[in-house]
Amino acid sequence: MRSCLASPKPSRNTKPSIATKPLFWDSAQAFLEEAQRLRPSLSFVDGKVYAYWKPLIDSLVGPAPLLTIQGGESVKTLPTARRLWKKLWQYRLDRGQVLFLIGGGSLLDVGAFCASTWKRGIPFVHIPTTFVAQIDAALGGKSGINFRGGKNLIGTFAQPAAIWGFTGFLETLPGQELHSGWVEALKHALLAGGALWEELLATPFSTLPKAPLLERLAAVKLEIVTSDPIEQDQRRLLNLGHTLGHVWEALSLGTEKPLTHGEAVALGLLQEAWLSHRRGLLPEPFFQQLYQKLQREELVLPLPPFTWQRWEGVLLQDKKIRAQQLYLPLWEAPGRAQVYPVEVEELRAAVRWYRAQLT
Ligand SMILES: NC(=O)c1ccc[n+]([C@@H]2O[C@H](COP(=O)([O-])OP(=O)(O)OC[C@H]3O[C@@H](n4cnc5c(N)ncnc54)[C@H](O)[C@@H]3O)[C@@H](O)[C@H]2O)c1
Repeated sequence: MRSCLASPKPSRNTKPSIATKPLFWDSAQAFLEEAQRLRPSLSFVDGKVYAYWKPLIDSLVGPAPLLTIQGGESVKTLPTARRLWKKLWQYRLDRGQVLFLIGGGSLLDVGAFCASTWKRGIPFVHIPTTFVAQIDAALGGKSGINFRGGKNLIGTFAQPAAIWGFTGFLETLPGQELHSGWVEALKHALLAGGALWEELLATPFSTLPKAPLLERLAAVKLEIVTSDPIEQDQRRLLNLGHTLGHVWEALSLGTEKPLTHGEAVALGLLQEAWLSHRRGLLPEPFFQQLYQKLQREELVLPLPPFTWQRWEGVLLQDKKIRAQQLYLPLWEAPGRAQVYPVEVEELRAAVRWYRAQLT
């Protein structure tokens, strides 16, 4: 993995935190043995996950109170945060107690945001139940909620006390969500290159991943975030495909068919790869490998309805804009990406190219 960056490094005095390493199990018993060493004082659980996994979760959390909340992107709001803070207040959670967060990336993002701001931060444990959350959202210590149509505009950096990934949870995941996880996995493999990239290209996205592969995928993110805990430079590589991906995800919110995070990132990965190729950075064969893989997995999807004005409005909320310049990672080869300054017009051209492929 290469780490050169084209953009300047801002100075900050914030003390970096060390990323928490996740543990993965294929066996429910082994998972419970580890998890039961720590008893929560309160748990926030994704309602769907609880419906599928009630007996396991009941043994996991013991007699402590448990609040189920709806999963999915629509939960990352101030009203939900207010509801969760109220529970922390009601049960008088303090810094000597532990909060369990059991669910997908959406629940973990809003739950960690509340935990990290409550009394200036109480300990919380991430128990990710989606593929995306197990290899991405639970790792790296970013929390966040959406605000006025912008993704994750309000949030914190805060590390969970532990991250426990039981792969059994993935058995009840809807196919679309499993696909989303594979897209994030593909992005990790793009950054890592080598055997992981080849393996991902050859693995059908209908497969259920097992603990050893999840460990390797999580290690890619962990290596990057450990070198850059508060997203000053290296960590921005993880945004590969996410600049346009987030725009599509935000624009599809509230439409008849909202895109999952992974579906939106698949659009972003392909459009940004096209831009990398157009700039002469990414050789055609690698671009085609990605394009054909996404086609095989039926992830070259229609764009949500948008006007260019709205598209640009959402794009310009991007947190990667520094001094009015947009920076994004561009892909050069499997295992090689760099952050470059990019003009809005270039991204518009990538979207136009993509639209032309669909007609
Ligand atoms: N903090 C980070 O670093 C980071 C990184 C990547 C993504 N994210 C965020 O994660 C969010 C996406 O999270 P996600 O993809 O995990 O999905 P999600 O949390 O939005 O959940 C998607 C759906 O799956 C359901 N679900 C969850 N686990 C299930 C299970 N085991 N069985 C059946 N259904 C289940 C949920 O109820 C929901 O309906 C986005 O908001 C994204 O911004 C954050």
